[in-house]
Amino acid sequence: MLISRAPRFTSNDITDAKHYLTRREWMLGAAALTLLPGESAAATPQGEPLKAARNDAQSLREPATKFESATTYNNFYEFGVNKPDPARLAHTLKPRPWTVRVDGLVHKPKTHDIDDLLRLSPLEERVYALRCVEGWSMIIPWIGFPLASLLKRAEPTGQAKYAEFTTLLDPSQFPGQRSSLFGFSLDWPYTEGLRLDEALHPLTLLTVGMYGQVLPNQNGAPVRVVVPWKYGFKSAKSIVRIRLTSEQPATAWNKAAPQEYGFYSNVNPAVDHPRWSQATERRIGEFRRRPTLPFNGYADQVAPLYASLDLKKYY
Ligand code: MTE
Repeated sequence: MLISRAPRFTSNDITDAKHYLTRREWMLGAAALTLLPGESAAATPQGEPLKAARNDAQSLREPATKFESATTYNNFYEFGVNKPDPARLAHTLKPRPWTVRVDGLVHKPKTHDIDDLLRLSPLEERVYALRCVEGWSMIIPWIGFPLASLLKRAEPTGQAKYAEFTTLLDPSQFPGQRSSLFGFSLDWPYTEGLRLDEALHPLTLLTVGMYGQVLPNQNGAPVRVVVPWKYGFKSAKSIVRIRLTSEQPATAWNKAAPQEYGFYSNVNPAVDHPRWSQATERRIGEFRRRPTLPFNGYADQVAPLYASLDLKKYY
């Protein structure tokens, strides 16, 4: 079977910030840019502008989802199970000070301060599709750099086969981690994992911003992973540790419901969730459902990673 990336748009009109932000958001952003030095951090801890060069080659030519939708319709169970909970409650998360530890099967383990991490590699803006396993999708202009830039600095050993991502564990910042509070609990901290070749793939983005701004708390401040060809739950938020392992890591949703959420979780219209079809999706902001694309439209870049894998078995 020939799998190719379906063209999503014919024109070359990548969305400019002033089009994907509403007029009010755009003006607020412009106002933030004119703040005096020292004012910006104090006055706008969220919404602080973050400069990045657009990576056209890795950007979809589709209109971005409205900023307001991308920041108020969220999955971040550390703040609750309802979509508006993260935007309402995420003010308790403190994205500074923050460190990310890279360790496990590496020659050079290191704890990176978040501000050093931001300077580790040139920041790029990439317009990616995000497809949630629940059947909705968004188009989001993320800011970050390839995770590979960070992992290669750690010098993985020959035994390293997987990367495990761990979200901060701190019930004082994440009310949802006080498990009884919302009547539902994952096994905290949230962990996710990728095969090392997936983690090193050029599409896999260590993400620190979106829509020209630092990452809002509800989207996983100060740093998360974005893996655009997989269901959104593979993209762990607010991470504090990346550990390279020889064994496939246990992951939060797989532990909670292994028959529903596999380790691979590549976007796949041909493999349904046990409780709903994955053949179509609803793009947030649109009315009609649209067909789900294999690997979320990134098949030409990632299908070779799975050439010898039965994707029905390894869902
Ligand atoms: N990371 C953590 N730590 N906790 C979560 O609940 N939810 C995942 C993923 N990362 C989640 C997480 C799911 S299900 C999705 S769809 C995406 O984050 C949503 O990202 P967004 O809210 O920025 O759109």
